[in-house]
Amino acid sequence: MAKYLVCGGAGYIGSHMCKRLHEAGHEVVVCDDLSTGHLGALQWGLHACGSLEDAAFLRELFATHDFDGVLHFAALSVVAESMRDPQRYYGHNVAATLNLLRVMREFEVSKLVFSSTAAVFGEPLSRVIAEDHPTVPVNPYGLSKLMVEQILRDSARAYGLRAVALRYFNAAGADPSAVIGEAHDPETHLIPKLVRKAAGEGMQVTINGTDYPTEDGTCIRDYVHVNDLAEAHLLALDHLDNAVGMHTFNLGNGTGHSVKQVVDAVQEVTGVALDIPVTGRRPGDPAHLVAGSKRARAVLGWEPRYTKIADIIETAVRWHGTDSFRNWIAEASEAGDAAAETVRFDARQQQRKQG
Ligand code: UFG
Repeated sequence: MAKYLVCGGAGYIGSHMCKRLHEAGHEVVVCDDLSTGHLGALQWGLHACGSLEDAAFLRELFATHDFDGVLHFAALSVVAESMRDPQRYYGHNVAATLNLLRVMREFEVSKLVFSSTAAVFGEPLSRVIAEDHPTVPVNPYGLSKLMVEQILRDSARAYGLRAVALRYFNAAGADPSAVIGEAHDPETHLIPKLVRKAAGEGMQVTINGTDYPTEDGTCIRDYVHVNDLAEAHLLALDHLDNAVGMHTFNLGNGTGHSVKQVVDAVQEVTGVALDIPVTGRRPGDPAHLVAGSKRARAVLGWEPRYTKIADIIETAVRWHGTDSFRNWIAEASEAGDAAAETVRFDARQQQRKQG
C-alpha cells in the first residue's frame, strides 16, 4: 500500500486512475483545479483544489502528505486549441509541470508517471509507430508533451528522478460501472460525439475528409480503453520500484479503425442509424496513427483487455446514458458561462478605463 498524488484526478483518464489505485489498495490524493475536471469524478481519496502553477500550494500539499509517487494527468489536450493559443499550452503543460518537478525534488519524491501522447511523433514514417519512432511533433500540444519528456530525461540524469512517460493513442470508453466517464464541454472527440448524437443530443459530427490515403479514405486511429490505460500506470509504478532513469512506452491496441468504421460500430452498438455529413479535412490530422506497443508489453507486461472497438463503445454508451453524465455536462456549462461572464466583465472594465 502506497500513497500517490494524482494531478488531474478529476479529469477523464485521471479519475479512472484514482478508481484503479483505490481498488489496488493504495491511498489517493487528487490535486485538481477543476478547470476541466468534474467534482462528481472525485469519488476516491482526498481532494486538494489548486493549480500546479501555484508553487506555494504544491509545497503545502507535499508538506502535508508523504507521497510515494506522483501520477501526472493534468494538462490541456486539444490539438486545434493549441494551434490557436500556444502560450497557454506551454504554460499549462510545460511550466506548470516544471513547478511540480521542482517541488517533488524539494520533498525528495522521486517516482513519476507522466501522461504523454501519440502527438509527440507527428506525421508517422511507418504504418505502425514503434516506441523508437522519431519524435517530430506538428502542433504545440505534441511539442509541449515532448518538452516535458526531455525535462524528465534530464532530471533523471541530473537528480535521480525515476520517470515513465506513457504515450497514449486514442483514449476511449468508460469504466463499465458507469460511475465515471468522459464529459468534455465542448466535446471534440469522435466516439463520444457519435454516441451523444445517437442518444439524440444536438451534436455537430462530421466525417472530416474522405480523401486520405487509407482504404476508405478516412483517418485511421488506434482506440484504447481508458481502463487499459489506467492498468498500464499501475504496471509503470511497479516498474519504477526497480528501474532508474526515464522510460517511454506506447499505449495502443495495435489495431486501427477508420472514421467510417467507427461510425458503423456506433450504429451497430446503439441500434441507431446515423446520417453523418462529409466535410473537408481537419487541419493537423495525420492519416494513420497506430501504436506499436512492443516495449510496453515486454517490459511492463501490459496487455490491453478491450481489444474490440464495439466493447469500448459499449462502455461509452452505458456512461453517456447516466444522469451523472448529464449533471457533469450541465455543471461544466455553468462554469463555462461564469468564465465567459468574467471575461465580459473584464472587457467592460477595460473599456471604462480607456473611455
Ligand atoms: N473526427 C471526425 N469528425 C468529428 C470528430 C473527429 O471525422 O466530428 C475524426 C478526426 O478528424 C480524426 C478522428 O476522428 O481523424 C479522431 O479524432 P479525435 O478528435 O477523436 O482524436 P484525435 O486523433 O484528433 O486526438 C487524439 C487525442 C489527442 C492526441 C492525438 C494524437 O485526443 O490528445 O490523438 O494525434 F494528440
